[in-house]
Amino acid sequence: MNAVTRPRPPRAARARGPLSLLRSWVAPDVFDFWASHLHPTWSWNRPLARIVDRQAQSRDAVTLLLQPNRHWRGFLPGQHVNLGVEIDGVRMTRSYSLSDAPRADGRIAVTVKHIEGGRLSRHLCQDARIGDVVDLGQAFGEMTWANGAEGAWLFLAAGSGITPLMALVRAHAAKDMPTALTLLYWARNRDELCFVDELRALSQRYPQFNVHFVLTRESELVDGEHSGRIGSALLSELVADLAQRGVYACGPGGFVDSARALVAPNARSFTAEAFTPPPRDVEVEAGGNVEVTLAASGRTLSVPRGQSLLTALEGQGLKLASGCRMGICNTCACGKVSGTTRHLHTGDAIGEPVSALRLCVNAATSDLVLDL
Ligand code: FES
Repeated sequence: MNAVTRPRPPRAARARGPLSLLRSWVAPDVFDFWASHLHPTWSWNRPLARIVDRQAQSRDAVTLLLQPNRHWRGFLPGQHVNLGVEIDGVRMTRSYSLSDAPRADGRIAVTVKHIEGGRLSRHLCQDARIGDVVDLGQAFGEMTWANGAEGAWLFLAAGSGITPLMALVRAHAAKDMPTALTLLYWARNRDELCFVDELRALSQRYPQFNVHFVLTRESELVDGEHSGRIGSALLSELVADLAQRGVYACGPGGFVDSARALVAPNARSFTAEAFTPPPRDVEVEAGGNVEVTLAASGRTLSVPRGQSLLTALEGQGLKLASGCRMGICNTCACGKVSGTTRHLHTGDAIGEPVSALRLCVNAATSDLVLDL
């Protein structure tokens, strides 16, 4: 591999020691290649993390404790992160929620559920070992308490939706639960529930924290468990003062839609994130192909009109960066120089150039030129 020479740095930059000097003369990818031989998480500017612990969290979920390198900029409880791993020569990236509050030792926790057919979730749950290094994106997501946690709260979690809400519960507990918090947590079966012992212990320690587990497919219930899907009868039974509560809801798209319809009109505030895309009920012009020109490489590809550009371009053999694949994390975004696209969830058409088109949730409706 050849080192690429770079312009000589200013005098001040040259005086910062051997590492700075080395980095001034070597291209970032070359630096990363050789640095990783000295230490697995050394890199020029890429956030990387080493797995330092793993714990089974439920029948099909594992919590990985990660030690990030110095390029990681930290997070707020309730945010997500992209993890990337190379599997059989293919780099795969997906978004996962950070499940712990920020820790004094700087380590971060993600809780990963094994999704049927999900190659990365299977790898992280079954194959990843202590000492392995993963690519780490910077944290993103709006379901935080950036403006403070005043007032009473209601958290509604379904399935993997518990993970960002657990980070918020732990952050609240770290401050001795300063305001009332009730968590309603849905799963199909008891053995799919995560963090049960910790949540029960917190509810015993703090009278202002209540937790209710709601199971949809369990025949016999124990103390603290309920049955049934989200509905007004269950909500009014478990939460008498909804009008005073700020509500956070997280789970599959259908669950979040139900929560929004039932709760949002009656609560103090309502914030939600779904980890599956909303149902595609937008009519997108389909049929036939359009030409997508990739400005950087000069290639022109023919892709199906109406299909998500990420899927369409991957179908042509392109290896593109992606994370959530539902329009949240911005990993797939690239510039659009010309042409018209339509957002697959909102139906919005964009005919002007944009600097960050999310390929996973937009389809071409005319020939396009992309900054790729
Ligand atoms: S992959 Fe996350 S926004 Fe497209």
